[in-house]
This record gives sequence, structure tokens and C-alpha cells, in this order.
Amino acid sequence: MTPMGTTTTIIASARLQAYRATLETKLKHPRCMKISCTQETNTKGGKPASRSNLTQNFSSERNLGTLAVISDITWKRFSYEKKRYYHSLSGVRDLLKRVRMVHSSKNQSSQKGEVILACDRFVRTDTKDSLSKMAKLIDGKQIASDIRSELREQIVKWIQQGHRAPQLTAILIGDDPASNTYVANKMKAATDVGIVSKTERYSSDITEEQLLRRIEELNLDDAVDGILVQLPVPDHINERKVCNSVSCGKDVDGFNERNIGRLCLDMNTLIPCTPLGVQELIKRCQIETFGKNVVVVGRSKNVGMPIAMLLHADGRNDTCAMDATVTICHRFTPPSELARFCKSADIVITATGVPGLITADMIKEGAAVIDVGITRVVDPVTGKNKLVGDVDYDEARKVAGHITPVPGGVGPMTVAMLMKNTFIAAKNLAKK
Ligand code: GUN
Repeated sequence: MTPMGTTTTIIASARLQAYRATLETKLKHPRCMKISCTQETNTKGGKPASRSNLTQNFSSERNLGTLAVISDITWKRFSYEKKRYYHSLSGVRDLLKRVRMVHSSKNQSSQKGEVILACDRFVRTDTKDSLSKMAKLIDGKQIASDIRSELREQIVKWIQQGHRAPQLTAILIGDDPASNTYVANKMKAATDVGIVSKTERYSSDITEEQLLRRIEELNLDDAVDGILVQLPVPDHINERKVCNSVSCGKDVDGFNERNIGRLCLDMNTLIPCTPLGVQELIKRCQIETFGKNVVVVGRSKNVGMPIAMLLHADGRNDTCAMDATVTICHRFTPPSELARFCKSADIVITATGVPGLITADMIKEGAAVIDVGITRVVDPVTGKNKLVGDVDYDEARKVAGHITPVPGGVGPMTVAMLMKNTFIAAKNLAKK
């Protein structure tokens, strides 16, 4: 709640100046005594102020009282606190019809009772007209960052209670550049949240026997909480055997067949990270699933299938599943049927790696569209490589109610969920 008698200061980015007058009117909430609106002072040549300039403004203004930061820069340190947002400044949301997310700073507000808000960067490029029509953007990057902040705090507390830091070991075989990048990102995220990370690299001629022996050593090592073997492994190594060799308690990828079995039975387990990330996005964006129609496009064992499991299962059981009516479509679903199923769905989740498979005419108005597909393509205009999803994003966002971008949607959530699983594994192992 905005405290009585405090000042609300708005630092609005230059591009949001068009909204300034309306913002000021709207923010004259009965609980706010006074509003002062500060233009972003440090804009150069029409560009948004740098992060450090905004931070300076932020620091100098926050002593005045409640501070609302309307910014087109996503600040890492803002974490998402939906209650405060809904209770105190729904006016802002009404005004900027399509404000995708409002972040409030948990640490600072809990100390001083301030409400600190930042509208995300997606507001800035939309015109007023388009704002009322476009889907809400699901900012996976920001949500993942929020989750990492929450985890960081929890891990600090865990260590203060006398436990050692959680430890994650990644096994990387061969020199595939994409696998290298994925593992590097995971290790960076681990360090960021306070998880000790180790990468063991092996050349692609490692034998299956050698690999399984090393995994067994890690299974037995009390200093290791989480083990992941980056996939794919070379052809001469049996991937299923490798996944099953990681002990269930340390299987932070959730790929061991016993963990998958537990997931299918709605039992408490380590759940694969991408499906868990999709579930978390849906929850944090408050997208209703109970009794809703969901179409999952793609039936892979690590992504499509577990997503369908989480979405359809009974929310009263351990996996906190989502009670939806789920249809799984795949490569043999005729295109006309795929379109028909998607069109009837309240939520479409696609994970095929086929760019442009899901077009706007296949989306029901107001539906949520979660795009798990990531494909590297050459941009025909710039000639540069870029990442695209399965959805024709530019058109689909004119129809959908919520939509994830690619990149910046589900991708960052996978890494955040890996961190979450590692911490869960560490806590479970410490109990034993
Ligand atoms: N390769 C592609 N995605 C993944 C993943 O989520 N986990 C592992 N271990 N390997 C991958």
C-alpha cells in the first residue's frame, strides 16, 4: 500500500513523457499526498538514460518517500512483488493498458515502506493505440532474474544456518559451440546465485564406461549436490544410460527415468528445467489454467511431454500441476487439425523448433502463447544470425493475450530452474 502522506516521485523515461500528464493525474491516488514527476535528465540524443544515470536519479530521489520509476531499462535488482503492485498502483496499470510488468524492489521497500515501481522496457516502443491491442509480453528474462534474486537470498540464509554452499557439477563432452555456451551460461548463473559450480570437460572419444564411472564417483561424492551431463552426448554413448546413471537425488535435469516416472505419477521429484520454467511463467503471470484448454505442440521426452504432464495433472498433488485439459500435437498432426486445436486453446505451448509454425490465424483472441522453440536463422534483411521461435511473433502478438518473446522468454527460465533444482537437491541431500 502507498503510505498516507508520502510523496510519490516518478522518474519517467524520455519516451514515456507522452504519458506524463495522464500519469500524474492517475497517480493522484487518494493515499498519495503529492506527486512530482521528474523527467529523465540524463538523456543524450533522445536515447534512454544509462543504467548508472538512472540509478543515480533513483538514489537521490528515493529519500523523498514513495518512488515510482517508470523506466525503459530493466533493472536487475527489482524483484517482482505482485501483491504490492496490484494493491497499491492498479491505477498505473489501467493507464498504461499494456504495461507488461511492474517490478518493485523488495529489499528496499521492506526497509522503508516505500513502493518502488519500474515499468518494463516493452512499454516504450508501443503507440497508445497498439498498447490496447497487443498481447502482454511475458518477460522471461526479468522473471528469471527475479527468481535468481530470490534464490540468492535463500542460499545466503541457508549458508548462515551453517550449511555449505550448494554445488553443481556439469559434464561437457566434445567441443560443440552451442553446448559450450549453454554450460557457460549455467555456470555463470550458478555463481550469480551462490552455487559453487564445476565444469568437467572430456574429449568426444571418452568411452561410455569411463563416463559412467565418473558419474558414479560424483553420485557418491557428498560435496556434490547436482550433476548434469550436457546433451547431446557423442553417438557411441547411450544417452538414456547416461541420464539414468545420475542418482535421482542429484538429477537436477530431471532426466533419470525414475524421476520422469515420479513426475508422471504427480509425485514430488526433480522436474526437468524447461517444463518447470514454463509452469513458473504461467504461474507468475497469473494465467488461469484450471479447466482451460491447452495445446502443447511437440512431444519430446524432455520438453513437450513433461509440459503436458504438468499442465494436465491434478493440482492437489505434489507437482503443483495445473488442472488443464491438454491436447498434444506433433509432427503427424495434420496441419488443418493443428490449426483447429490451437484455435480452440486458451494456452498454446509450442516446442518444435520449426520457425513460423504457429501463425496468428491459429491463435484464439486473448490466448496465452508460450514459445519454447529456439532456432538460429539468418536474418534476410541484415544477413546476421538471429534466434527465432516457432511462433510468428509480430502477428501473433496482435491476437494473443500473453506472449513470450524469443529470445528472452522461456530460455532464461530454464537456467533459473536449474538453479532452483540444484538448491532443492542440496536441501534434500542435507536432510539425509
Ligand atoms: N541440451 C539441451 N538442453 C539441455 C538441458 O536442458 N539439459 C542438458 N543436460 N542438456 C541439454
